[in-house]
Amino acid sequence: MPRSFSVVVICFQLIVLVQGAKRFHLGRSKGGNLGEPAGISGVKLPPAQWFIQKLDHSRPTDTRTWKQRYFVNDSFYDFNNPGPIFLMIGGEGPASAKWMVQGAWIEYAKQFNALCIQLEHRYYGESHPTMDLSTKNLLYLSSHQALADLANFISAMNDKYKFNREVKWIAFGGSYPGSLAAWLRLKYPHLVHAAISSSGPLLAKVNFMEYFQVVVNSLREKTGDEDCVTRVKLAHQQIETFLKTDPAIIEKEFKVCKPFSKASENDMKNFYSSIADDFADLVQYNEDNRISDKRRKTTTINSVCSMLTQHPEKPEYQKLAEFNSIVLEESDETCLDYDYSKLINGLRNVSWSSEQAEGGRQWMYQTCTEFGFYQTSSGEVEVFGNQFPLDFFIQQCQDVFGTKFNAEFVSAGAEWTNRAYGGLDIAAGRVAYVHGSVDPWHALGMTTTQDNDAPAIFIEGTAHCANMYPPSANDSTKLVAARVEIQSYIGSWLNLP
Ligand SMILES: *[C@@H]1O[C@H](CO)[C@@H](O)[C@H](O)[C@H]1NC(C)=O
Ligand SMILES: *[C@@H]1O[C@H](CO)[C@@H](O)[C@H](O)[C@H]1NC(C)=O
Ligand SMILES: *[C@@H]1O[C@H](CO)[C@@H](O)[C@H](O)[C@H]1NC(C)=O
Repeated sequence: MPRSFSVVVICFQLIVLVQGAKRFHLGRSKGGNLGEPAGISGVKLPPAQWFIQKLDHSRPTDTRTWKQRYFVNDSFYDFNNPGPIFLMIGGEGPASAKWMVQGAWIEYAKQFNALCIQLEHRYYGESHPTMDLSTKNLLYLSSHQALADLANFISAMNDKYKFNREVKWIAFGGSYPGSLAAWLRLKYPHLVHAAISSSGPLLAKVNFMEYFQVVVNSLREKTGDEDCVTRVKLAHQQIETFLKTDPAIIEKEFKVCKPFSKASENDMKNFYSSIADDFADLVQYNEDNRISDKRRKTTTINSVCSMLTQHPEKPEYQKLAEFNSIVLEESDETCLDYDYSKLINGLRNVSWSSEQAEGGRQWMYQTCTEFGFYQTSSGEVEVFGNQFPLDFFIQQCQDVFGTKFNAEFVSAGAEWTNRAYGGLDIAAGRVAYVHGSVDPWHALGMTTTQDNDAPAIFIEGTAHCANMYPPSANDSTKLVAARVEIQSYIGSWLNLP
């Protein structure tokens, strides 16, 4: 999830200048949690294709359909001597055609002469099953419907190309689609032979307080001592104190869009959540190879921590404010907008042309109905304060979708998800689970091998979905080794009936 945008960079920047939207909300960046590679100059991207998909897979008698977007790269494939089919599962943002020519899976595809297909997730990008995003129409947005879309798509492609059972499908996915890849193996093992599940949160958890615990641990792990964490802690304490005694100082340093005297209680929670999110985003995407984006190369845990630990004469809150200014600048925002009502009004917009239709509203719906995943301050009260507890997020569900979406409702949804898929007791074979130690999402994923047929690869030092990005000369030896290991699993599974 880039803080900047992926597919429609220019559009996004224009919109942000006008609306000052939040970039990182509910642990999701614009464009979805898996970003996109930089693209290769001179290589043409394949065109979008459209699949006639069923609206409601839970009722065979419902014959309504819609058009689902997909992309194909058949350059490595020999249809006369068909090899495997690699299926990249779309997630909580627009599917990017750039993945069709670049990324670790493309390297594997060259190796195994695979046909590469990416199917966009219903309700995201250009795949619009309903007229708009009204709460009533979002009834058809769920991981279950998305898995059934994939199953229907696979069957249809097998028919279209007359593939027999020897032609094996392997699912790939990162972040939420990482979970979908494993769940696809669980629910449709006859259609999908194996899966590579990267950074997938398999356990639905409403109060995801472990998220900020990993953020804090990653600051320690990357810098090798406690100093950076201590500075962040001090900065937050100073901010809380100033907000009581002299808010004008914080207003000025953090370039807020409106004075704190006009702030509601929810605005303040949103403010604290926003400044903590700067660290969430920093850690989640630390040094990944995603984008040729200037920020991704230069703003890292180490650069921010050295900013915070140098210049002992400066107070910590001031140094944190400098980091905040960098984040604002990089996301082309002129001020820090913590206005809760504006956030909620944006998320309430049901139009496909609204800014939040990029995925913000849809992902929020999925968190409120299926997953939770709320990155609350409850786990690291010492470091980030305790200003954005669980009820702040439940409030958002209710304010956006209706009072019915209360704490019990959200909990029941997450429990239902864990019952349906098994959480970390998932019973699926031929799945490789890949995680990075500095990715906060690993806390809800499979990080140790529990079944030899479903190995876990835990990469020390890497961030969210790092293994999926195109290999780079700067990759750590551990990341390089993980990609090799994944390739060897693909090779061995392809040789199994
Ligand atoms: C498939 O990917 C390769 C490697 O990037 C690229 O050269 C080729 O043009 C792509 N083919 C299609 C049909 O997109
Ligand atoms: C929803 O967003 C669209 C596109 O930005 C805008 O034109 C429309 O006025 C918004 N609707 C509401 C109710 O705010
Ligand atoms: C590797 O990192 C160095 C230092 O950050 C940078 O100058 C160089 O461009 C990077 N190389 C690649 C291939 O990304």
